[in-house]
Formats: sequence, structure tokens, C-alpha cells
Amino acid sequence: MIDFTGQVAIVTGAGRGLGRLYAIELARRGAAVVVNDLGGTMQGHGSDSTVADQVVKEIEDSGGTAVSSAESVATPEGGEAIVHAAVDRFGRLDAVVSNAGIFHTVGFDELKVDDWRGMLSVHLDGGFYLSQPAFRVMKSQGYGRFVFITSSAGMFGQPNSAHYAAAKAGLVGLANAIAVEGAEHGIHANTVLPFGYSRMVTETAGEREHISTDESSFLYAIQPDLVVPIVVFLASRTCELTHHNYSACAGRFARVFIGLGEGWLADRGSEPTADDIRDHLAVVQATEPFTVPTSIFDEVAEICARLSISA
Ligand SMILES: NC(=O)c1ccc[n+]([C@@H]2O[C@H](COP(=O)([O-])OP(=O)(O)OC[C@H]3O[C@@H](n4cnc5c(N)ncnc54)[C@H](O)[C@@H]3O)[C@@H](O)[C@H]2O)c1
Repeated sequence: MIDFTGQVAIVTGAGRGLGRLYAIELARRGAAVVVNDLGGTMQGHGSDSTVADQVVKEIEDSGGTAVSSAESVATPEGGEAIVHAAVDRFGRLDAVVSNAGIFHTVGFDELKVDDWRGMLSVHLDGGFYLSQPAFRVMKSQGYGRFVFITSSAGMFGQPNSAHYAAAKAGLVGLANAIAVEGAEHGIHANTVLPFGYSRMVTETAGEREHISTDESSFLYAIQPDLVVPIVVFLASRTCELTHHNYSACAGRFARVFIGLGEGWLADRGSEPTADDIRDHLAVVQATEPFTVPTSIFDEVAEICARLSISA
């Protein structure tokens, strides 16, 4: 059994929805857990410290160990305080599940600057404010696991959520950079794109009980518990993977990756024009063959090899 005995985990947004399930499962497997949740509305208004407290009680009632944090991830002080809660109370930090999030839909041409900034501040800034102090602790230990909760909305696109999609895609960039910089310190970073029936679904698509059976089958299929296994695996010492993204949808677990096509290489020393791009579009567009670079250097090395030049 994958086990977290002696380990300490932070789960943000753990008072409700999917985050609560990650925290409970990590605690069941022996982790001491910082249950962080601001306790606001889905749109990001208000706060309620009892939301995190209730999950701590649930964990403790089952014999687990947890501490509550009602800080917001959306400020540098909040991120620091969440990491301090782990280190001060439990003495170390092994895994961070960066899960806290808000959501609302609005057409792109109606999106207000405040909505844009508010969304980025929780998801993307929040990911940074939490992960930087956590990274420092993990680096000093020579060990750590980050799981950033992102979204298919960001990786693949979704209507009426440009702010959310951009913030979630930004987290993939953050995880990529942490994976590259963390490798030599035993720090791994991966992301998960979940689908789970939570208030983010009910407040957007409606309660499944009020939707016809045909329409709602998918909503019944995306039991939130079905996301937990991959998050817990990626947070564990068993996981040697890093720099990867995984989709978890209705019991289907799959890698999501950004591939680089072989492309069309203009003759060395030539001056390719827009007309050349049009003429070679099929090769420029081709998705086979492809590589999955593990950093910008992989891409540079590959092109240098083809051009017979030094990197
Ligand atoms: N449910 C899905 O299908 C789905 C799909 C893709 C991505 N996600 C992502 O999964 C994560 C969890 O979503 P969920 O569906 O469980 O939603 P949820 O609303 O049930 O849970 C999110 C939790 O985050 C907390 N939170 C919000 N802002 C915070 C802040 N600034 N600081 C600390 N806590 C804060 C909320 O209080 C809430 O309890 C989110 O990041 C969401 O974007 C969910």
C-alpha cells in the first residue's frame, strides 16, 4: 500500500469538493495534513474558517492527524502561513496539492479586468505564493512532491472562461519550471486535470437530479472520488514521475502532453517566406513524428543537431 507514514502534506481548498477527498485519503494513508480552505463562495467571495475545521475534525475522528488553515492562497502572506503551519506543527513538508480554486463563467467580450485579476490571483498567483516557500523547505530536505490541480479548460479550451483557462494553463508552465529546477533536489512537480461532481459543476451545469437522465449520465460518471487515486499517487514517495500532466475523468486516467512536431526545416542560409510556409503547411502542421521535450533545452538540442550547429 502506498503510504505516507512520517510525511506531511498540504492540501489547499481542502474544505470542500475534491480537495476534501484528497486530504482525507492522504490522512488515511498516514500523512499529517494541513487542511487549508478560505471557505468562500465558488465565485471567490467571503470566508468561513469552519469549512477547514470540519474536515480536520473528520480526519481526527477517523484517527488521522490534521491541522486547519483558513488562510487565502491568493496573498504571499497566506502562502507563507500555510507552509509555516506544516513546518511549525509537523516539522517538515513532503507533498503539496495546490487545489484551491474559484470559478465563474462569462463571455470573453464581457470579461471585466477585476474578474480576470481575481481569477488569476487565486489560481496562478496562489500557486506561486504557496509553492515558492514550499519549494524552499523541500529543497532543504532534498525531497518534495507538488501536484498542481489544473484543468482541461486551460489545456484544451472552454467557452466563457478565458480567465479560468488562462490561469489554469499558467499553472502548467509553473509546474514545468518547478520540475526542471527541482529535479536536482529530489522535488517532483506534476499536474492533474480533474473532472469531479462538486459545486463547481452544480453551480454551473445544475444539480444532476434536476437534469434528464440522458443529459446527466456524465454527471453521475464523474464521481469526485475517481480523481483521488492519481493525485495521491503523484503526491507519494512511490512516484518517480515529474514534469507530467494527467487527466482524470470518470475513472479514465491518461497522460496529457505537449508534443513538438518534427516540422519543416528551411534550407540552412535560405530566407523562408510566408509563401514557403503555405507551400510546406502539411509538414509544418504534421503531429507525427513528434517528441515531448523535457525542457526548452531539448528543443534547442534537437534543432542544433539537425542544423549541425553547436547549442
Ligand atoms: N470539479 C471539477 O470538475 C473540476 C474540473 C477542473 C478543475 N477543477 C479544479 O479543482 C479544484 C477543486 O475544485 P472543486 O470542484 O472541488 O471546487 P470547490 O468549490 O468545491 O472547492 C474549492 C475550494 O477552494 C477553496 N478556495 C477558494 N479560494 C481559496 C483561496 N483563495 N484560498 C484557500 N482556499 C480557497 C474554496 O473555499 C473551496 O472550498 C479547483 O482548483 C478547480 O478549479 C475542478
